[in-house]
Amino acid sequence: ASHSTVSITIVGASGDLAKKKIFPALFALFYDGHLPQHFTVCGYARSKMTDEELRLKISGNLTCRIDRSENCGDKMEEFLKRCFYHPGQYDSLENFAQLNEKLKGHEQGRIAHRLFYLSVPPNVFVDAAKCGSLAASSSTGWTRVIVEKPFGRDSESSAQLTSGLKQYLNEDQIYRIDHYLGKELVENLSVLRFSNLVFEPLWSRKYIRNVQIIFAEDFGTEGRGGYFDRYGIIRDIMQNHLLQIVALFAMEPPVSLDAEDVRNEKVKVVRSMRPLSIEDTAVGQYKGYSKDGVRFPGYTDDSTVPKNSITPTFAAAALFIDNARWDGVPFLMKAGKALQTRRTEIRVQFRHVPGNLFKRNLGTELDKATNELVIRVQPDEAIYLKINNKVPGLGMRLDRSTLDLLYADRYSKEIPDAYERLLLDAIAGERRLFIRSDELDAAWKIFTPLLKDLERKKTAPELYPYGSRGPVGAHYLAAKHNVKWGDV
Ligand code: BG6
Repeated sequence: ASHSTVSITIVGASGDLAKKKIFPALFALFYDGHLPQHFTVCGYARSKMTDEELRLKISGNLTCRIDRSENCGDKMEEFLKRCFYHPGQYDSLENFAQLNEKLKGHEQGRIAHRLFYLSVPPNVFVDAAKCGSLAASSSTGWTRVIVEKPFGRDSESSAQLTSGLKQYLNEDQIYRIDHYLGKELVENLSVLRFSNLVFEPLWSRKYIRNVQIIFAEDFGTEGRGGYFDRYGIIRDIMQNHLLQIVALFAMEPPVSLDAEDVRNEKVKVVRSMRPLSIEDTAVGQYKGYSKDGVRFPGYTDDSTVPKNSITPTFAAAALFIDNARWDGVPFLMKAGKALQTRRTEIRVQFRHVPGNLFKRNLGTELDKATNELVIRVQPDEAIYLKINNKVPGLGMRLDRSTLDLLYADRYSKEIPDAYERLLLDAIAGERRLFIRSDELDAAWKIFTPLLKDLERKKTAPELYPYGSRGPVGAHYLAAKHNVKWGDV
């Protein structure tokens, strides 16, 4: 409504995430007319900077939709005029009180809602939440806080963080972000399952042999070694992004699409998962590699990473869900940096056709001839189903074909970035795509024993060359569960 306004403060505005994702997402929302009529964006960080300097700094990353780039320049101007900067310490009540005054000035007596985006290192999370809440909460509208991972390093530190935040905020003010939940094809999982008759009846141990959730990046930890080395790939990708995908994939149908109903189902299925152990896992770390005179650095070549680091940059794990639907079905997760390709996908391998009449005509191993449903989250979003089909002609030869839904062919509209959807949801008070604290606890329960064990045993990761397919350990792990990775 025109008598209200939203102030969005990005705490940690000089960081990479703010520059690359948060400001651009806010601009994209503004460009498409999704932000309220009155709003202010305020960057908050420790460095001294003027409003103009902030605008200059962020403007390079703002882009207009490719399909409708009219008025691009004007829109950017308009947006940047609403962006301000406030320098301050993350633990200073006084600095946040000054921010409060500044925001008030822009809010001009309207009912003011306030959204804080904490994009700061975990050691200042709670301080920033405290100062924001005590000194800069809205006195007329709602106050919400988006927090970014890492939410701790294990069960205990995560619980500490949660109780720290809860001293100053109610659970319904806390929006724990996992940007994978904002990705189009991840959100579509529920539509695929619950809005098509043909999938859900097959969605169980009865027909599904295994499920693979694969995350691969074709670049290393360049520039982020300092952060990464404290966390490693299991905490960086698996415990959150991949586990969230498994939860949405495997949960029971929720009572409704309401946030609490959906999150109840997610917690339930996560609680049914068996905690991981070292035997269920394979870990790797990329090493330097030279090709045609070009040298790709190893993980420990990064100056911010200790030379003797054993932090995994690759991990594969076999996860089991001990419930009636999924008993015995391996969910194989794989996540790695500095691999051959950049791709995130879900692969569902179905069982063999019992007593297949066409065994002889398949011309391929029976194993390869089972149906496989692939949901490619990125890049080139797609959903396709591998089927056996008769090669046209007089003979009877079968061939592997695909029923293919390629988003770029089917939908002409650009897919919004995950952060756009999530920011918009936070402004609207929609919590369905954010992580509830009991969900977070349940997620850590699965990974904490494994993480502790890896650290205690100082498990050395298997080295794999930068740009390769990753360590062979991942294949042994899969083979142990009678699985072949579908992406190789
Ligand atoms: C982040 C991780 O959460 O996700 C990064 O910290 C990773 O290490 C990134 O690169 C991947 O996100 P996306 O959206 O590019 O797949």
